[in-house]
Amino acid sequence: MNHFELRGGVMHVEDVSLPVLAAAVGTPVYVYSTATILRHIAVLREGLRQAESGPDGPWIAFAVKANPNRAVLATMARAGLGADVVSAGEMLRALAAGIPADRIVFSGVGKTADEMALALTHGVGQFNVESEPEAATLSAVATRLGMTARVAYRINPDVDAGTHAKISTGKSDNKFGIPYDTAVAAYARAAALPGIRVQGVAVHIGSQLTDLKPLEAAFERVGGLIGELRAAGHVIVTADLGGGLGVPYDPSHPAPPSPGDYGAMVARVTRGWNVRLMFEPGRLIVGNAGILLSTVVRVKEGSTSPWVILDAAMNDLLRPSLYDAWHDIRAVAPAGERFVANVVGPVCESGDTFATARPMDSVVEGDLVAFMTAGAYGATMASTYNSRALTPEVLVDGAEWAVVRARPPIETLIAADTLPPWLEEQA
Ligand code: LLP
Repeated sequence: MNHFELRGGVMHVEDVSLPVLAAAVGTPVYVYSTATILRHIAVLREGLRQAESGPDGPWIAFAVKANPNRAVLATMARAGLGADVVSAGEMLRALAAGIPADRIVFSGVGKTADEMALALTHGVGQFNVESEPEAATLSAVATRLGMTARVAYRINPDVDAGTHAKISTGKSDNKFGIPYDTAVAAYARAAALPGIRVQGVAVHIGSQLTDLKPLEAAFERVGGLIGELRAAGHVIVTADLGGGLGVPYDPSHPAPPSPGDYGAMVARVTRGWNVRLMFEPGRLIVGNAGILLSTVVRVKEGSTSPWVILDAAMNDLLRPSLYDAWHDIRAVAPAGERFVANVVGPVCESGDTFATARPMDSVVEGDLVAFMTAGAYGATMASTYNSRALTPEVLVDGAEWAVVRARPPIETLIAADTLPPWLEEQA
């Protein structure tokens, strides 16, 4: 459920009308709904209430990569969420938004020694370590700083998550984690490293998962490993079950498992683990809390269907080009008629296609359209390709709204490039 509804024939985000926003800010623009974000957090918390998670309850660390806007992160901070970060940049953003360091978990296969040092100095809660060489480097960095890093190994359970290959992370031929079969030996070697204290096990098998079975298989492996590690004398106090739960993109498809179904499965599989459970949801929290608002630049005749050419392009919303992702495209003020169209952006690539032969609300030049479910992996994956300005973002809360990232003037982009001395005179 979300807060994007027609009122008087015009789509609103909570109490704010989209044509009003478009007139004030221009298009393309991302628009996020605070109420939807908070509702998703509440529904997830409610679902996870079924699982035993120790006295402090589950540690929910929002996956910053899904939507790193500082206002969005501040909304997470206010709701008491932590953050899952994969770079120093994401960590600094989370801290800048008011997320306490001890609620931050640092993931990722390529943390540099500098990033580790920065994270240690800030006091992040846990490092999810993805290889033995990484553990050795982290230990050395922590020792040099006179600190001890709290660590979970991310295991690769060799489970097929059944999602798009580019966002699947839990198979043995993916770069992520340490192989499940070698984990016990790796923990034994980690226990001997002076700068780290191994405290947990982590897993994340992929994103936009629409079936609980692979997740359950992965979690069962985590449970088995916790038992083996304890038998070998390790103290295991956290189990990070990652993110990945899918959201509905296409209303004609069966809905993915609900947070309630997910929570019930987690409760069943993790019973008796006696750990603090951790979760790293991204898309689930923000996916359906955001749209990309765009204007139809023109409609051009096509050989089979008309081309609807928008002012949004692949640089604003990359998912359709990169993953053939399907986003619902709706007219903001639907006239009631439908047609079949190809929806494209103005970028000079045929890959700049949002939808082919799509039955949709019929639109004409100047109309506004909304790409639904664009709150996750939308603005954050935008680029300035074709020298297009980076997409601005707006956050709505009830009847209030604010620009939370302004559209930078194109002059800023041009000024960011500097000329070498030998070319300066000509310019
Ligand atoms: N934890 C880890 C270690 C991850 O790698 C990810 C996502 C998450 C949590 C959050 O997953 P979520 O709950 O959002 O599914 N750009 C792609 C998605 C890439 C996901 C990468 N990792 C897309 O647009 O579909």
